[in-house]
Amino acid sequence: MYKAPRGTVDILPTTSSKWQSLEQLIRTVCSYYNVQEIRTPIFEHTELFCRAVGDTTDVVSKEMYTFQDKKGRSITLRPEGTAGVARSYVENKLYSNPETLQKLYYMGPMFRYERPQNGRQRQFHQFGVEMIGLESPYVDVECMTLAITLVEALGIQNVKLHINSLGDDASRELHRNALMKHFEPCIDELCHDCKTRYQKNPMRILDCKVDKNHPLMDSAPKMRDYLSKEAKEHFSTVCSLLDDLEIDYVIDDNLVRGLDYYCHTVFEIISDDPRLGTGSTVGGGGRYNGLVEEVGGPYAPGVGFAFGMERLLIAMDASIEEESGLDVYLMPLGKEAKDLAVQIITMLRANGYSADMDYQDRSMKAMFKSVDRNKAHFAMILGQEEVENEVVNIKCTVSKHQSVVKLEDILSYIEDHESGEEHE
Ligand code: HAM
Repeated sequence: MYKAPRGTVDILPTTSSKWQSLEQLIRTVCSYYNVQEIRTPIFEHTELFCRAVGDTTDVVSKEMYTFQDKKGRSITLRPEGTAGVARSYVENKLYSNPETLQKLYYMGPMFRYERPQNGRQRQFHQFGVEMIGLESPYVDVECMTLAITLVEALGIQNVKLHINSLGDDASRELHRNALMKHFEPCIDELCHDCKTRYQKNPMRILDCKVDKNHPLMDSAPKMRDYLSKEAKEHFSTVCSLLDDLEIDYVIDDNLVRGLDYYCHTVFEIISDDPRLGTGSTVGGGGRYNGLVEEVGGPYAPGVGFAFGMERLLIAMDASIEEESGLDVYLMPLGKEAKDLAVQIITMLRANGYSADMDYQDRSMKAMFKSVDRNKAHFAMILGQEEVENEVVNIKCTVSKHQSVVKLEDILSYIEDHESGEEHE
């Protein structure tokens, strides 16, 4: 007996319709914002993630699925989508598009070697948005409103937008020095990883899961006290735009995000939905002005976010799922009826109707059960008598009305009755 690898799940037909409803809603919301889809490879050269995401991050240092291909190249299954989009933006010269602001979205599987739990898997799915080309704080807010609009459209309750600023290079340099000074006296008390972080990127100490209760964590220097004039201005414009749009948010000094490419605005959408567990992060993102250059392109500032789709599905309103059923289920009784049913079903499908039929010569009772399970609008019964008279017996499962219809009139009958609840 084979089992799916730990941290992966099969999406079975019973839940795939919920996925499709979510994907459809995402596509609709993106179209309102004029955000277009980009599809990048599921694996990339490992170096891309080390460069873009940062090799002191947990994602790169502990969680990547990395292997050598047959030519000995190091390949990694993407742990997130932003690095691949930035690589593609450069490789395909999207920066020379006359539309300076490229607004892109993606949905698809991502891979992180993490401890699986509710809403956390090793293969999971993200819906992400990347807006690349402008520094404007208006674009930060456009990203956040898109994220909030989606969460609201999904009926997810108890969500809060947390925001913070990580400032520009100058601000981060000052903050870095202050953090080093702050943690210097206790560096020996911190975990092994934090000792490396202290040297390479002390801000990462702030999101250490091992040392999170260390007494020096709470009193660590806050980024907001080190913001340059420009960074302060950028952040206050973001805040006032959110105020104007009456979007609720909290400024969260401890929000540093787990990936290295961020600067200026960072944000997370946190839900207290009991199905997810209090304080679960459904999505997060922020600005990354240096990333495109980091992966070999010109200066092209960006901002974006990603949601974990499994988490959206756990918390979304059950009513979002569209009721989808078959138009017609055909119930042939006997060999001749079965052959005729094949002709009818082909004609129905060719005319845009969804239809299925019984191939197992089952009893009427068993076939009616399939009508129910498939939520078919019409049940079409074909017995020997119907075959001889060149008619079918059509039962509408909505009105319970039953009609005998000539073969040549099937299509017009269905057309006339498909939308109406009531039949004459
Ligand atoms: P992230 O915060 O690492 O950001 O991931 C975004 C979201 O993906 C998380 O908030 C969570 O909902 C979901 N997620 C992450 N890991 C897992 C997992 N193991 N299982 C299930 N869901 C998970 C990024 O990935 C950035 N690329 C976001 C971004 C886009 N920033 C700018 N542009």
